[in-house]
Amino acid sequence: MRVKTITDGGFTEKKDSWCEKIYRYREENIKVKGDTLGLDKKRILHSLGVANKMKVIANELYPGNKEFIEDMFILGLLHDLGYEFAKTKLEHSEIGGTILKKNGYKYWKEVYYHGKTGVEYKSEELKILNTADLLTDSNGREITAQERLKDVKERYGEDSFEYIDFVKLAKELGLIQ
Ligand SMILES: [Fe+2]
Repeated sequence: MRVKTITDGGFTEKKDSWCEKIYRYREENIKVKGDTLGLDKKRILHSLGVANKMKVIANELYPGNKEFIEDMFILGLLHDLGYEFAKTKLEHSEIGGTILKKNGYKYWKEVYYHGKTGVEYKSEELKILNTADLLTDSNGREITAQERLKDVKERYGEDSFEYIDFVKLAKELGLIQ
C-alpha cells in the first residue's frame, strides 16, 4: 500500500489512516447531501487549538488547579460539537448546548451561549471560552484578536453578522478597543 504523507497546519498524518477514511466518508455522504455542516477536520483542529489555549488561560488564572485546567480543556474540545447536527453556523451553539445539557454536562450553558454578544448569562468559564475562541484561527493556530478579526472580515465580509458580532464580542472581552 502506498502511503502518502500530507502536512496540514503542523499536524502530519498518513493519507490512508482511519481518520482520512472518515473525512472521505463525510465528504461523500454527509456534506454533499447538504444534511448538516458537520464537525469536520478543520473544526476539530480549531477545537483542539481552543482547548489548548483554554488550558493556558486557566493555568494563568489558577496555577496548579488541575481540575479546573482539565475542565477548561474539555470545554474547549466540546464547544463546537453542535456543528455535527447544525444546518447553519447561527444555530450550532444552541444545538451543541442543548445536546450537552441532555447528557448532564456541567458547562452546557457555556457551549449554548458561546460566541454571542449581549447575553444575560455570564460566567468566568464563558469568558475564558470566548477569549480562547477569538485567539484561535479556523485551523487551530494561536493568533491575535486583530488577526482573527481580519480573517473573519475576509471570509464573511465587513457587513456580515459574523464580522459585526465578532467585533462586538472582542470589545466586550476587552481584546480590542
Ligand atoms: Fe462555535
